[in-house]
Amino acid sequence: MITARAHTNIALLKYWGKKDSELILPYNDSISLTLDQFYTDTSVEFSQHLKKDEISVDEKPLTGSGLTRAKRVLDLVRGQAQIHTAARVYSTNHVPTSAGLASSASAFAALAAASAKAAGLTLDKRALSILARHGSGSASRSIFGGFVHWHAGTDNQSSYAESIQSKVDWDINLITVLINTNEKKVSSTNGMQSVVKTSPFFPAWVKAAQADVAPMTEAILNKNLAKLGTLAEENAMRMHATTFGADPSFTYFQPQTLAILNTVRNLREQGVKCYSTVDAGPNVKVICAKADNELLLTQLAKIVGHDALSICNPGPGVTYL
Ligand code: PMV
Repeated sequence: MITARAHTNIALLKYWGKKDSELILPYNDSISLTLDQFYTDTSVEFSQHLKKDEISVDEKPLTGSGLTRAKRVLDLVRGQAQIHTAARVYSTNHVPTSAGLASSASAFAALAAASAKAAGLTLDKRALSILARHGSGSASRSIFGGFVHWHAGTDNQSSYAESIQSKVDWDINLITVLINTNEKKVSSTNGMQSVVKTSPFFPAWVKAAQADVAPMTEAILNKNLAKLGTLAEENAMRMHATTFGADPSFTYFQPQTLAILNTVRNLREQGVKCYSTVDAGPNVKVICAKADNELLLTQLAKIVGHDALSICNPGPGVTYL
């Protein structure tokens, strides 16, 4: 039985649109920050005694598209290891719904690492990233800690993540702002499909996101919070613009999402270095310096209350327990 731990990540430049939905190849590169507090622990054993895969998440049997994706990862591992045995998988998410974060990135990164080792494979991090990508695109990035770059690539082997800066020794953290824990109406998979097919803004989004990869990498290496935050906020707004342009139009924003975006903008006008990013849901993540945490918590709590806020620091890559 092998157990791996992987942490969630938040994209500063987003993955939004699949060029190949079988292989999960994105249209553009993305860049993320792995977070310290939220993670998934996954244990895997392959056993002759099992007739079929048994997969549980938080002590419940996995079903639906999660099950299909998990089996896809296990099948790839079996293929590479040339084994035919079924697997028992136990997964525990330490990603509280109260944080408003998705657990698919940490879950599939942990599954890839644990299942590869349990099958006797010795894969390097690039190979693990490629494997995790088949569960969920963003999982390819959670193999690494700190700031991470997922190269879109053009085929299975060229689409992988790598580290930009694994030890983040400068003043940056992120505040998660929970607005709604309900399951979203439009999953990221469906949202991406819709904008790729119908949004006239989609090609412009891809072009703008790709053009920001080099400046974002430079901002990270130069430890330039203002540049990094500005690029991240612009990128998130452009991603959400694709949804407004879709047919039928949709949005992940809720009234409180806009209220938080406005507060962050107003504080910035007053000289606070704070920037918003939003994924495929209503919750906002505020990128800021640790020195401004208290001030931001006070201002953000006026809209959502203190319980809806969590502070996250940069976190590590996948490890074996
Ligand atoms: O990895 P998925 O299929 O859950 O998609 C993630 C999409 C976004 O969170 C919106 C962006 C990203 O790059 O993480």
